[in-house]
Amino acid sequence: MTKTLTKDIFYVGVNDPGLTHFDIVIPTECGTTYNSYLVKGTEKTALIDCVKRSFADGWFGNIGGIVPPEKVDCLIVNHSEPDHAGGIVDLLKRNPKIAVYLTRSAKTFIDNIVNGPYDAHVVEDNQELSLGGKTLRFMVQPFLHWPDTMMTYAVEDRVLFSCDFLGRHFATEKVFDDELEQTEKLHNAMVVYNSMIFRPFKEQVLQGCERIKDLPIAMVAPSHGPVLRKSWRDAWAFYRDRAALPLEKRKNERQVAIIYVSAYGNTTMMAKKVAEGVAAAGLKPKLVNAAEVSIHQILDDLDESIGFLVGAPTLNSNLPEPIYSMLGYLVVLNVKGLTSSAFGSFGWSGEATKIVTDIMAAMRIKVFPEPIKFKMTPTEADLATCFEFGKKYGEAVGGKAA
Ligand code: FEO
Repeated sequence: MTKTLTKDIFYVGVNDPGLTHFDIVIPTECGTTYNSYLVKGTEKTALIDCVKRSFADGWFGNIGGIVPPEKVDCLIVNHSEPDHAGGIVDLLKRNPKIAVYLTRSAKTFIDNIVNGPYDAHVVEDNQELSLGGKTLRFMVQPFLHWPDTMMTYAVEDRVLFSCDFLGRHFATEKVFDDELEQTEKLHNAMVVYNSMIFRPFKEQVLQGCERIKDLPIAMVAPSHGPVLRKSWRDAWAFYRDRAALPLEKRKNERQVAIIYVSAYGNTTMMAKKVAEGVAAAGLKPKLVNAAEVSIHQILDDLDESIGFLVGAPTLNSNLPEPIYSMLGYLVVLNVKGLTSSAFGSFGWSGEATKIVTDIMAAMRIKVFPEPIKFKMTPTEADLATCFEFGKKYGEAVGGKAA
């Protein structure tokens, strides 16, 4: 499918409506699209991004509806994650002389996707490329959301190719936002996408929002989901708020999330005493039973906290699933360098706290205080230790010292 965005800019991306999970862990209830665009100047034609490699045939068909893929002069790589760059391997087979414009960081990734020679042109921020009557300006935005990321702005047409930024996973044949029914699903696709992909990059999202705030924009053409002709300001405000509000909340509320599960109430008893210790350090504890709330709620609580602790009983020498799952989802947060620790009750052998802190250490989380565990029902003395554990932790992450 192709679609005309402006007289000389065309959508040539592909739909993947059957995708249920992106990057293994990100649910995509509405599938996704791999957006690619073609920009025609009087002298040169440029592609903005490729598609996932398994969709390359459909992509070539779309490009071919406008210009033979072998005749495209330039490829702009806004981002080298394989959902956008995978198709470059097949493109280079058909068009080995195509000039590839990309950031220095993107080149390191593309080199290892192509694994062979290609005509690479490393770009700098604000560098422009003339296609003849059409100017492409490269806006390098590291970590929005990969180190390689840039946006590309078509100056004369005022079209911003925003990469993953301002996108969402939502398969559609309509292409334009104002052709779609404004359903809850369409909005939720943006909520989940933002939550799962942009949470760790709040400062970079705010920089990106600031950079385009006053840019003359007729439409935002992201790498996933609809082209935003009508609602790009709404998406911009949503992205900005989702980045700014947790940062404000961390600063103002100084919350510590205590994420726990408990089979017989013993780890709950410990969690409550840990919370009292955190409060004694002048911070606001938030107890979250991971077996009772959604992972999205847990991630929101973690995101709004200056630190977190984990309470996990041992079940058959292992961790209960909600805690495993929560730890797995820490990949969508920026936890490197944080301080955390674990506590829990056990019956036989008590491996859970060590499993939790081993995972934390592997994620470069500093483990402090030393994890604590007690056999079966904690005694008054054990609970006093829990209080001290919470207080020590609170003081370590910015609470008041005794
Ligand atoms: Fe859509 Fe970061 O790839």
